[in-house]
Amino acid sequence: MPTSLKDTTTLHNGVEMPWFGLGVFKVKEGSEVIESVKAAIKNGYKSIDTAAIYQNEEGVGQGIREAGVPREELFITSKVWNSDQGYDSTLQAYETSLKKLGLDYLDLYLIHWPGKTKYKETWKALEKLYKDGRVRAIGVSNFKVHHLEELLKDAEIKPMVNQVEYHPHLTQKELLAFCQKEGIQLEAWSPLKQGQLLNEPVITEVAAKYGKSAAQVILRWDLQNKVVTIPKSIKEQRIIENADIFDFELTPEEMEKIDGLNKDERVGSDPDDMSYGFSE
Ligand SMILES: NC(=O)c1ccc[n+]([C@@H]2O[C@H](COP(=O)([O-])OP(=O)(O)OC[C@H]3O[C@@H](n4cnc5c(N)ncnc54)[C@H](OP(=O)(O)O)[C@@H]3O)[C@@H](O)[C@H]2O)c1
Repeated sequence: MPTSLKDTTTLHNGVEMPWFGLGVFKVKEGSEVIESVKAAIKNGYKSIDTAAIYQNEEGVGQGIREAGVPREELFITSKVWNSDQGYDSTLQAYETSLKKLGLDYLDLYLIHWPGKTKYKETWKALEKLYKDGRVRAIGVSNFKVHHLEELLKDAEIKPMVNQVEYHPHLTQKELLAFCQKEGIQLEAWSPLKQGQLLNEPVITEVAAKYGKSAAQVILRWDLQNKVVTIPKSIKEQRIIENADIFDFELTPEEMEKIDGLNKDERVGSDPDDMSYGFSE
């Protein structure tokens, strides 16, 4: 089990990825994202998750620079947006993201959503970036088992990560087992269901036992399930609180009780229905 924010999972290509990071979806470009990223790094976070569509890559880059931690100690993720899928457009999108971030490489670059027809072509572009040494790891996001099976049919390089919606109302057991079998690290987005799980009695009861918050219990449950997690907050106190999860351990019974909350209920789109930004 990870024992600090520095601890990492080893991706199948040997790259070390922190188990815990900061998400910046819906964090406003400018001072809001700059201050959130700085607060996180100042408090020991090593990993930041952004995306071209969040329109805050410039601020993320500025926050990283102002935090003053050497670049090689950090793990920075971005994602190619749906409208940029395709081989040449993905290569171009990668350069645009790097430029906005002010970085010369990313630690992880993901296909944001599968869509229907272009993800294999897009994957070839990610493979090219990886083979050329431009990015340390490549992966996908919002891929279901059927998307992964299709991609793996002719992928040269297996995705290192699959970032999906994952929380106690959407436990994704089949997908987690598939990814574990294939050596693909699962990463949780909206781990707190965007705040909608924080009054769930089963969770608040466990939280009370440990003197922890509901958010901390959920994030701990992620780690004990071997799922990387990236909660978002723009408030420094919550950024600190969310990461303070290395001093308690949920029992197998508590893990099961939290698993039992599953309702296969999403806060975001179902990947099979996500058409926003795609021209197909
Ligand atoms: N790949 C994808 O398609 C995809 C989709 C969605 C998200 N993501 C990634 O996953 C990250 C996390 O997901 P998310 O931002 O959707 O939701 P989330 O992390 O589940 O929840 C964030 C919400 O919870 C609040 N919050 C955070 N910590 C809290 C605490 N300790 N107590 C009470 N409230 C707390 C935040 O408010 P404050 O900010 O006001 O504290 C915010 O409203 C994103 O930021 C993004 O990087 C990826």
